[in-house]
This record gives sequence, C-alpha cells and structure tokens, in this order.
Amino acid sequence: MNQRPPVVVLLGGPSAEHDVSIVSGTAIAAALTVEGYPVEQVLIDLDGAWWWLPPSHRRGDRPATDYDAPAALGSQGPLLVGAALDRLAAGRPAPVVAIALHGPFGEDGTVQALLEAAGLAYTGSGVAASAIGMDKTLFKRLCRGLGLPVADWREIRAGRWAADPSGVRLELDAFAAGAPDRRLMVKPARLGSSVGMTLVHDPSEFDRALQTAFRYDSLVLAETYLPGARDLEVSVIGNDPGRLELYGPGEIVSGHEFYDYAAKYTAGLSETSTRAEVTDLERATILKIARDAYRAIGAEGFARVDFLLAGGSIYLSEINTIPGFTPISLFPTLPAEGGHSFGAVCSRIVQLALERHDARAGRRLSLDELPR
Ligand SMILES: Nc1ncnc2c1ncn2[C@@H]1O[C@H](COP(=O)(O)OP(=O)(O)O)[C@@H](O)[C@H]1O
Ligand SMILES: [Mg+2]
Repeated sequence: MNQRPPVVVLLGGPSAEHDVSIVSGTAIAAALTVEGYPVEQVLIDLDGAWWWLPPSHRRGDRPATDYDAPAALGSQGPLLVGAALDRLAAGRPAPVVAIALHGPFGEDGTVQALLEAAGLAYTGSGVAASAIGMDKTLFKRLCRGLGLPVADWREIRAGRWAADPSGVRLELDAFAAGAPDRRLMVKPARLGSSVGMTLVHDPSEFDRALQTAFRYDSLVLAETYLPGARDLEVSVIGNDPGRLELYGPGEIVSGHEFYDYAAKYTAGLSETSTRAEVTDLERATILKIARDAYRAIGAEGFARVDFLLAGGSIYLSEINTIPGFTPISLFPTLPAEGGHSFGAVCSRIVQLALERHDARAGRRLSLDELPR
C-alpha cells in the first residue's frame, strides 16, 4: 500500500461549480505532490475540452478567472474527451485519476463512466452512486423509502411548468399551506454550492424562484423550509460498507439567511467548527444516518453527508460524493480530529481508488465463459 502511482487530477469542468473545482483540484494536486505522488493537473473548460497544465503548475493565490484562458497558463490542449482519455490510458504505469470536479459531468456519474470505459482507476464513487448522490430527488426518494428522515418535498419538471404554470402554483401553494412553515426552499435537482436556490417567503415569489432554478436544471424541487436549521456535516471514508470511517459532525454557521453561494465561498462570511455542539444521542444518531445514507447509494471512496438540525429534529439533507475539497473545507478537515492531515486524506482516497480498481481487475471474460 505504500506505492505512489502517478495521479492525474481533473479540475474545472463544464458546470456552474467550475471555479470551486479549480480551488479544490489545485489544493489536492499540491497536497499529493507533497505526499510523494507524481501529479499532473488537467483542466476541463466550460466547452468540455481538456487542457494539460504545465507540470510544475501551482495555483498560489491566482484567482479562478486566470483559468479562463488555459493556453495563457502554458497548458497543452485542447483535447476532445476521446483523445484525452486515450492519452490518460496510454500512461505507463497507468495513472489514478483524482476527480476534483463538482456538479454535472464530474460528480453525476458521467466522467466516472468515461473512466470506467477507459479502464482507469478513479477516486470516489462509481457511476450509479454518483448519479443518485447528485440528484436530490432520487436521493430523497431512496432515503424516504428506507425510513431515513428527510424534509418533505415536491418535484417540478420544466415541461410541466411550461405547460401548466397555474397548476404548479396551486400545488406548491397547497404543499406550503400544509407544512408547519409556509416558506419553501426551491432548488435545482442536480447542482451544488447553493447555485440557483431561492428561499421563497411568499407564493408571489414562486415564479421567480422556479425560473431561477430552471436556468440550471430541467428538474426542480421545492422543500419545506426548516426554520433556524443548523448545518451539520459528516465525512465518510471507505470502500467496504462494513468498515467505514466517519468523522464529525462538524458545523457551519452561515453569515447569510441560508448557506448560499456567497456564504460558502466568501472568506469570513461563515464560520466552521470541526466539532458541532450536539448531545451524545444526536451525535450517535447523525453518524448512524450518515452511514446508512452512504451505504444506501452504494458510495465508495469518500463522501460528505449533510444534515439539518431544526426544532430538535434531525433531517438528512443531502450527500455529496465530491464535496468541497479546499484546505478550509469541512470534508478534508473533519478527519483532522482523528489525526489525519489534508495530505493524508488525499492520499487515502487515492489508495482506496487503487484498491477498488485492483479488486475489479482480472474480470475480463474469455470466450468459453460465454453462455453459448
Ligand atoms: N429545507 C431547508 N430548510 C432550511 N434550510 C435549507 C433547506 N434546504 C437547504 N437549506 C440551506 O441551504 C443550504 C444549501 O442547500 P443544499 O440542499 O445543501 O444545496 P447544495 O447542494 O447546493 O449545497 C443548506 O446548507 C442549508 O443551509
Ligand atoms: Mg449542500
């Protein structure tokens, strides 16, 4: 387990979380280099083209906008996805691909499927777990089916909103009226970083909230608002569902009405604690639900499971199969309570990717195994 395979970190990506991914990816690349891995960084632009950053590239304090012109950073490219995969697969030894992409394409099973088809080892969850983890509606349906506590919600498809807006308004109105709090949280189903989300205080705000969310996804959910909710997060690491490592819960105290994009990424607007103040029973319950959620989607490698604690009740909020991975993000810092540094967490995740890949290798069928 002490081998240090070459690692290729994928960052950027064609999603609204492009900039966040650059911060995560460059931090992971820097940490893995210190851990002794030979590291390359590949920037995926908004058009989906792949650029090899210069070998010694470090972000330093460059703003994410510097990555809008990859050629100016000295990158090689652009390569279309097929050629980029060929180049990765031709590496000897083959690299482990560390996926630091967030949101659609990078976190939803798409790039995982491409890497799977290319026979490459990659970090984190596989195709199905990534897809379910990314889609808040699929995740909530699965969790509700298992009896895990999630806030009530309604799902609205863009086609239905276009065809029958007054029907949708009536349904949401009735849904809000039946909840303990009439406010609704409207969000795109498959995004993160609070992009496209609106807290709707009053039915007159439905239209704008839905239009905002539909700009990012053709499927939107409206969730019962949990007033005064505390944001708690748990880090889960491991491949084997019977031997998962859990850290946390940590807590985020947002400087805004809810934990929105600005609160997440403006230094000083939110405070995080790696040790949430909760009772022993709450802690045990949260860790159990985090483990259940991780197993439910079939997550591998790592994930962050998020909770809302409101009015004395615990709600499972979402699972992030590629959580924020900056040096100040909660996911990589929660394990510090257990003595694991940021670099050690990155290294562990690469090793878990290799273990999974090796466990799968050698399963190529021979002709006489076909059921002929
Ligand atoms: N139903 C809700 N009630 C109260 N606050 C919520 C609710 N849903 C989301 N939030 C707040 O908004 C933040 C972002 O929502 P979340 O569903 O986690 O979206 P994202 O995937 O973009 O992070 C949460 O961390 C929480 O602070
Ligand atoms: Mg979230």
